[in-house]
Amino acid sequence: MLTPEHMGIAGQAAGLRRMRNTRPVKVLTVTGGKGGIGKTNISANLAVAMSMLGRRVMLLDADLGLANIDVLLGLQPSHSLADVVSGARRLEEVIVTGPAGIRVIPGASGLSDMAKLTPAQHAGIVHAFSELTEDLDALIVDTAAGLSEGVLRFCEAGNEVLVVVCDEPTSITDAYALIKVLSTERGVSRFRIITNMTHQGGDGRHLFEKLLRVTERFLQVTLDHAGSIPYDDRVWRAVQLQTPFVTSFPTSLAASALKKLALRADSWEEPRAARGNIEFFVERLIRAQQAREIAQA
Ligand SMILES: Nc1ncnc2c1ncn2[C@@H]1O[C@H](COP(=O)(O)OP(=O)(O)OP(=O)(O)O)[C@@H](O)[C@H]1O
Ligand SMILES: [Mg+2]
Repeated sequence: MLTPEHMGIAGQAAGLRRMRNTRPVKVLTVTGGKGGIGKTNISANLAVAMSMLGRRVMLLDADLGLANIDVLLGLQPSHSLADVVSGARRLEEVIVTGPAGIRVIPGASGLSDMAKLTPAQHAGIVHAFSELTEDLDALIVDTAAGLSEGVLRFCEAGNEVLVVVCDEPTSITDAYALIKVLSTERGVSRFRIITNMTHQGGDGRHLFEKLLRVTERFLQVTLDHAGSIPYDDRVWRAVQLQTPFVTSFPTSLAASALKKLALRADSWEEPRAARGNIEFFVERLIRAQQAREIAQA
């Protein structure tokens, strides 16, 4: 079998079009700019909640600096995305099963940003995804904090960008900065906003409207309020227990809100088949890389 090093990116991309997984897969990228606002907790619990709705869900830990989904879900994977990137393991060997049967691709702490991966490493990722035979309904991508090239690329390659925001000026300005760069430089025009850690009586609407006001004034974008997760101590307790709060505290306010969000996400339009399968997601990741390399040359 050819190793990624033996195959050029172009060859890989062409090969992808012949791949087996032709079902449309919704790729939901969870981001937000600011650190510590709940991106990872929301990604993991959304994956579990969608799985509980009967969907086949995969969760990709794309925080290449401080991957921690495995810790959050109490998993002890033997391998990670780093082994896939290096070509040492196939994706199938790295994927582990998490709560409610979700499939988890453990992240690779300490891996450099996507932008710094070598062409061979990139080809390794594409090759790995192209070999994936599992049928999926949704891929949820948890991104790192910040606006790094890797984060932007995962957002532009996905079908839906979910922006987590909480009621702090820094979170709002960071979310705005992210939306601005994605809309002006990466062609993303629709964003699903998740208001997190809202306080009593707060359905997050007020916070959503704050963000809406600034974006409407300066940017050509559509913002939808996808849902609101209240501040809830049980989120913290579930983190201590290394379990998702939707299963360990199913009647908590946060769990009810998350389940509503999952129902809503489930109703979002399916990507068109040809553009929606998993290989195209990875192909878009790579194409974005190539376009940028050409622009910089
Ligand atoms: N709705 C909530 N109620 C209470 N605590 C919350 C809520 N959402 C998140 N938290 C807490 O906020 C902290 C940060 O959450 P999380 O790690 O998911 O954020 P993050 O945005 O992924 O951070 P990073 O940018 O470092 O990756 C955790 O300790 C978590 O328990
Ligand atoms: Mg995180």
